Amino acid sequence: NKQEAINTDIITLTRFLTEEQSKHKEATGDFTLLCHALQFAFKSIAYYIRRATLVNLTGLAGQSNATGDDQKKLDVIGDELFISAMRSCGRVRLLVSEEQEELIMFDEFPNARYAVACDPIDGSSNLDAGVSVGTIFAVYKLAEGAKGTKEDLLKPGTEMVASGFTMYGASAQLVITMKGGNVNGFTLDTAFGEFILTHPDMQIPKKRAIYSVNEGNSLYWEEPVKEYINSLKYPQEEGGKPYSARYIGSMVADAYRTLLYGGIFAYPSDKKSPKGKLRILYECAPMAMVFENAGGKAVNSKMERMLEVVPEHIHDRSGIFMGSEQEVQKVIDTHKKFQ
Ligand code: AHG
Ligand code: MN
Ligand code: MN
Ligand code: MN
Repeated sequence: NKQEAINTDIITLTRFLTEEQSKHKEATGDFTLLCHALQFAFKSIAYYIRRATLVNLTGLAGQSNATGDDQKKLDVIGDELFISAMRSCGRVRLLVSEEQEELIMFDEFPNARYAVACDPIDGSSNLDAGVSVGTIFAVYKLAEGAKGTKEDLLKPGTEMVASGFTMYGASAQLVITMKGGNVNGFTLDTAFGEFILTHPDMQIPKKRAIYSVNEGNSLYWEEPVKEYINSLKYPQEEGGKPYSARYIGSMVADAYRTLLYGGIFAYPSDKKSPKGKLRILYECAPMAMVFENAGGKAVNSKMERMLEVVPEHIHDRSGIFMGSEQEVQKVIDTHKKFQ
């Protein structure tokens, strides 16, 4: 039997970014530099997560953040690593982090043209159990003459120039997409210290019978959500099979699986959390861009396109349904019946 040849033409993230830059004649290299800083932040966060149990980095930090979450030690470290990477690249003017109540302004770089929103560690409640967590990021380009204030970030997701997330699981994965582009997946090769392009042009399957939601909230769900989830569990058609349930509780991991296998991920707004749980700037919008660019769909609890939702403040929240096109369409159709 024939042995498969080893791939010697490896595309590293470094090569990928350089090639992307050379496609744009007008490019200054600022965005590429910013991406290199992101890449460094991901590698260092991945490193500390792997070592957490060995170096006393498990457990709580003792404070809570602006959205009321108890911070884990690694939430704080991930945040510090991310902030210094963004500062040191000199191309970022504004930064919003889940772990920082206020917007960070890098006044030392008044001419920097980018703004970034990040969730340094998504799924941090899972950290001590060794379950996959990740980092979510969104990059915005400041408008010409922007003052460098909060208003520059209170924009719809359609304004993002790039977004993506990492998942620190059995291996570290990076999923990245640029405005109007496709979605590419990289795997960190720890021996090389490089992210390698392993999932070029990711396309989410059009449908798949998997749903991902925290069912413990069902008491608080609105009627359309109850009816929709019930329709998956108790199919009405003759011979219909119920959907499988998968819920990790780290959005990055649930989203990564959904991207690869298809299905739906939902964190709807409900009677207890009328604005939903997940935050628009650094959780919902960047994920929505990834899903749309991979051929999927993402809407909020009002069935509006997630990417068009404008946050009122930097930590604003939203309900979200995202996944395969046909699965999200079912959610929309069920909601229509209630209008
Ligand atoms: P974070 O760890 O950044 O605060 O985000 C947690 C989010 C997300 O990862 C996940 O999908 C959701 O919270 C899980 O919430 P529940 O525990 O309420 O299901
Ligand atoms: Mn949190
Ligand atoms: Mn999160
Ligand atoms: Mn977080």
